[in-house]
Amino acid sequence: MHIGFFDSGIGGLSVLKEALQLLPSENYLYYADTRHVPYGPKSREEVRGYVFEAVDFLVQQGIKALVIACNTATIVTVSDLRKKYGFPIIGMEPAVKPAVEKNKKNHKRVLVLATELALKGEKYRSLVAKVEGRHIVDSLPLPELVEFAESYVFDESIVVPCLKEKLSGFDLEQYGTVVLGCTHFPLFKAHFNKILPPHIDLIDGSLGTVRHLKNLLEEKGLLEMTGDGGKVSFYASGILETDTEKLNKLHALLR
Ligand code: DGL
Repeated sequence: MHIGFFDSGIGGLSVLKEALQLLPSENYLYYADTRHVPYGPKSREEVRGYVFEAVDFLVQQGIKALVIACNTATIVTVSDLRKKYGFPIIGMEPAVKPAVEKNKKNHKRVLVLATELALKGEKYRSLVAKVEGRHIVDSLPLPELVEFAESYVFDESIVVPCLKEKLSGFDLEQYGTVVLGCTHFPLFKAHFNKILPPHIDLIDGSLGTVRHLKNLLEEKGLLEMTGDGGKVSFYASGILETDTEKLNKLHALLR
């Protein structure tokens, strides 16, 4: 059986890429909700409906576990999804805790980048409140990066000036860590590294998520040990992707 990966768009490929490295014997179904991306500016109710529709579809295809490779979808739906389905469901949340831990001693601040919807909910507020002792966490939505990614715009001359402008209100010398709290953002790591001072580290939850997936599969005896894995079928809002040009672009992001 396959492992399902879900995101509003191509952001989850940053997580699937790690899974292909760590769990190469597994086969994957990747569902991008291309019809409804971006989720960031939408309401909780709308997003909930889209996520349940997508997960129902993946269940019909046959999956043994599901990675919600989308911070926004996780924040809005993960507990309800776990109530409905019996298989392991791994979600993602902005990596605020490790970022705060890291910066406690050096008295630097943490900047969390995520979608508007992820940042405005009670779930995010309590995530920060749980680890925040000295009010060192700031946040910023970056919907532009989701739009760039979905249109395959990775050109430095377009992305870098946009990032500079968005971060211009922050005194970056004061920050120790930038959290990439949306799975689309790691696709732009090289662009961030162009403009962030070298003392700032970038963290995202991809590797941690995939390690968690591996542990859960192991624990439940669901791990694929042999066989030729590494195959990925892509679905765009429930329609199997067969367009070669599109498939080449998707595979390129996994290399
Ligand atoms: N990739 C998603 C996340 O991790 C959401 C992007 C969007 O659809 O706005 O939050």
